[in-house]
Amino acid sequence: MAFTIKINGIPHEVDVDGDTPLLWVLRDMLGMTGTKFGCGAALCGACTVHVDGAPTRSCVTPIDSIGDSAITTIEAIGETPQGKALQQAWLELEVVQCGYCQSGQIMSAAALLASTPKPTDGDIDDAMSGNVCRCGTYQRIRAAIHRAAA
Ligand code: FES
Ligand code: FES
Repeated sequence: MAFTIKINGIPHEVDVDGDTPLLWVLRDMLGMTGTKFGCGAALCGACTVHVDGAPTRSCVTPIDSIGDSAITTIEAIGETPQGKALQQAWLELEVVQCGYCQSGQIMSAAALLASTPKPTDGDIDDAMSGNVCRCGTYQRIRAAIHRAAA
């Protein structure tokens, strides 16, 4: 079945089954590989994108649930004020180790700053608790979010 989905402001037509996960469409059909596959079960956060600004696990989001919603991915988050500030803070504080989880981390952090421009440690822990980092960069992630908020 044909679907037209708006990703980073650009409409894309794809012909897939309606239960195809958005993550599959992004990576395998559109070549947008910045969004990562981790668990495939909404448990790790590596696949986080924004759907109408809300952080969403694309591995469990079927394409037929998206409709006219606007999708934002890591490829375009740097064009938002929050994403730009976060990416700069990430670089300044050298947050990344292997990097695999980090696009999902930044997408969750960007949604947090859009709704809560000056988050507390508790706000950050709540917003980021679904994003797993096997390299243990949590302390630097928290510091970078505070820096971006400043
Ligand atoms: S790959 Fe989607 S939450 Fe882990
Ligand atoms: S930086 Fe390696 S999993 Fe997070």
